[in-house]
Amino acid sequence: MKPFAVKHKFIPRGKIFFPGDKSISHRALIISALSCGKTVIDNFPIHDDSLATLNTLVALGVRIKRVKHRVIVCGGQGLRQPKSPVFVNNSGTTLRLILGVLAGTDFKTKVIAGKYLSVRPMARVNDPLRLMGAKITARKKGKEEYPPMIVSGGCLKGILYRLPVASAQVKSAILLAGLSASGKTCVVESVGTRDHTERMLKYFGADISINKNKVILNPGCSLISPGSIYIPGDISSAAFFLVLGLIIPGAKIVIQRSSLNPGRIGIIKILKRMGAKIKIEPLKGCKQIFEPMGNLTVSGGKLKGALISRTEVPSLIDELPVLMVAACFAEGKTIIKGAGELRFKETDRINSMITNLRSMGADIRSIGSGSSESIVINGKGFLRGAELKSFGDHRTAMSMVVAALAAKGNSRLDDVSCVSKSFPGFLTALKGLS
Ligand code: S3P
Repeated sequence: MKPFAVKHKFIPRGKIFFPGDKSISHRALIISALSCGKTVIDNFPIHDDSLATLNTLVALGVRIKRVKHRVIVCGGQGLRQPKSPVFVNNSGTTLRLILGVLAGTDFKTKVIAGKYLSVRPMARVNDPLRLMGAKITARKKGKEEYPPMIVSGGCLKGILYRLPVASAQVKSAILLAGLSASGKTCVVESVGTRDHTERMLKYFGADISINKNKVILNPGCSLISPGSIYIPGDISSAAFFLVLGLIIPGAKIVIQRSSLNPGRIGIIKILKRMGAKIKIEPLKGCKQIFEPMGNLTVSGGKLKGALISRTEVPSLIDELPVLMVAACFAEGKTIIKGAGELRFKETDRINSMITNLRSMGADIRSIGSGSSESIVINGKGFLRGAELKSFGDHRTAMSMVVAALAAKGNSRLDDVSCVSKSFPGFLTALKGLS
């Protein structure tokens, strides 16, 4: 446990640049490994989750070399049965995506997870993979399934699957399994989720198309490496600095080369709806062609409450904790509809954020349950310093540091070491703005 004392009276100003987007980094590694040729991945982020995917692929026999933020993957050599169980640490994306890959192998793999991931639901991904022909056994509790799991890959067949939960991880697992299936795989989404897998598969030459809310993948086209990939900056990490720049009067932060994927910019749209001044400058003409990116400039100002609809939630699912912080510093009511999925992240983020923000004097509550659970915040324009808890969750920890920096009085967070999951440089980045 590494506690962190947060003193207020900090006015962040300056330019900041983030290592590559975590979601894109998983796809870059996995799809490069499955493709013919060598792929050089630049701006690769180094954190627990991206390394979980890298180590998993190495355990499956993929040749990967990393020098700082550059990763070289020698793809197309096939996967081999690992000598011992594969450990995916606490990375949900690694686990769910790799299940899709393992479903198409001709060997048996045991996958084990860290303590936070071992209590996260997996039936949502196991069910469609079983329909495709994979044999998966998992630890069961009632109707739900959890790691550890054993996957016996085999002959898969393409399916038409309507996602019952809006999940990019589940959609991606099905598409990755679809690469080695016989026949077409279609995934239908009632609410759109991030499309990084679709974009990257297309970039590597897969026969994949999108028709309204349906993703259609025809197997048979070999994946060929485009040679190099640049991963745009992580917008989920940038979100902490967007909110920080908005809620501290006098702040001005420029975020360089951030991902601007349309399925990920919900945080920018909603903050603008709340009255934020955010300048977006898309970068054109660079060699980055499969994912949009650009610079963002944010400066402190007054925010007002806003309504966030259920269909907007997937575009800012990981940014909802820091959005709750922004809503506390706004004047008026913010309602986040359909936020129930937050209960199944690294920790129950509805509980972690309500507990912390209430201790800082916020008026925040949840109403309803399941997929229609909503969060209601009556923003008062300020928070007070308090004793805070990370619950072992990186995004709760970083959101609460942001809240504490803008609060009246000092705060103390019990443990900040969990930020290593997605953003080990978080505190250094903050210091760089003082
Ligand atoms: C991710 C998708 C989201 C998100 C997670 C990363 C991905 O989860 O919360 O942090 O990279 O596909 P869902 O599976 O709920 O969409």
